[in-house]
Amino acid sequence: MSEHVCDVGDLAPGEALRAEVDGLAVAVVRDEDGAYHAIGDACTHGDVSLSDGEVDGATIECWLHGSTFDLRSGRPLSLPATRPVPVYLVTVEGERVLVDAATVTNR
Ligand code: FES
Repeated sequence: MSEHVCDVGDLAPGEALRAEVDGLAVAVVRDEDGAYHAIGDACTHGDVSLSDGEVDGATIECWLHGSTFDLRSGRPLSLPATRPVPVYLVTVEGERVLVDAATVTNR
């Protein structure tokens, strides 16, 4: 079931926030084109929060060692991370941004 994580106006393009959905930490990210994404909020290299990272285009960079993750596929595009993060279904209904953590779109 989808949960309301934020409103459209809460994130400018290039911003991210951390939310909890069904007990899971989720990074809700607005890419630089304005699209919303939701990924697991734990880098697969060092288990730090990706929502504190830097958004570049449709990627987010882990702040600790610099692995960059594709927001659509969840795949790391650079080392040292080698495993993808889960990507969750995001929908926008009016002003509300919703995440369904039970629907992983990259597995
Ligand atoms: S903790 Fe993210 S790249 Fe090392």
